[in-house]
Amino acid sequence: MTATLEIKDLHASVEGKEILKGVNLTIRQGEVHALMGPNGSGKSTLGYVIAGHPHYEVTSGDILFNGESILDLEPDERAKLGIFLAFQYPVAVPGVSFANFLRAAVSSVRGYKDRAREEMARTGQLKEVGSELMPMREFRKELFEKMDRFNVDRAFARRYLNDGFSGGEKKRGEVLQMAMLQPKIAILDESDSGLDIDALRVVSDGINKLVADGMGALLITHYQRILDYVKPDQVSVFYDGSVVLTGGPEVATMLEEKGYGWVEDHLAEPEARKELVNG
Ligand SMILES: Nc1ncnc2c1ncn2[C@@H]1O[C@H](COP(=O)(O)OP(=O)(O)OP(=O)(O)O)[C@@H](O)[C@H]1O
Ligand SMILES: [Mg+2]
Repeated sequence: MTATLEIKDLHASVEGKEILKGVNLTIRQGEVHALMGPNGSGKSTLGYVIAGHPHYEVTSGDILFNGESILDLEPDERAKLGIFLAFQYPVAVPGVSFANFLRAAVSSVRGYKDRAREEMARTGQLKEVGSELMPMREFRKELFEKMDRFNVDRAFARRYLNDGFSGGEKKRGEVLQMAMLQPKIAILDESDSGLDIDALRVVSDGINKLVADGMGALLITHYQRILDYVKPDQVSVFYDGSVVLTGGPEVATMLEEKGYGWVEDHLAEPEARKELVNG
């Protein structure tokens, strides 16, 4: 079954200020949906709200995963359904190695932790120490296979999570996280920002492999360039808290050529907007 994430007339606020003002958007497994929009329009906020960040309050509308609302689910429950958010600004966690972080995340998403917790509740003890984690040998084997497949240096495993990582290394690290967690739907918040040409190729290549394996991606970006490597099925324009236009790749090209003034001009005129959608 193909997983679908549907955002329906979503309104959300932070600190009492309305940021999302009626977002409608659909992301399907195996497809790439690019989202472009000016600074401060609310793209990252949308990502946080989908992931379930407690700071943001949904005031109306809904987010459906395979037809069921996820609004009452905690962030980790959303992750278990297969929803992943790659942050625009990944946080560094000194003291926690990338490998240990990934092992904990994979163990949670794949249910090792829940099974261990259930067993504790039933029998009063753990079968063995560490059974709440994916077995180390299995984990390392999979990790190294995926590091090789996704062009991530094996030395990454031992480094502290994002600590002292260059911009490009952080973005490669995100690709590796997705490769391990195998989300059905991933939100990639500016995974192309700060990448040099070679890193952009590596990251794009990784995203393409994940999409070919069945991941759906919401690719938030400011630039048409990454879309030359990662071909979007749909492109939506986000403006002042909502999606104002959805079309094919040509929307990104138009935006690059004409800028957001073009969107603003057309927003006032519904007829011209139709024209714009139909090319
Ligand atoms: N925690 C917060 N507290 C106060 N305001 C916030 C908070 N989070 C977001 N905002 C505001 O919401 C608006 C949208 O921010 P958001 O980061 O979603 O924009 P964006 O479209 O991702 O921009 P960019 O392209 O620069 O990344 C901004 O005006 C921002 O200041
Ligand atoms: Mg942002």
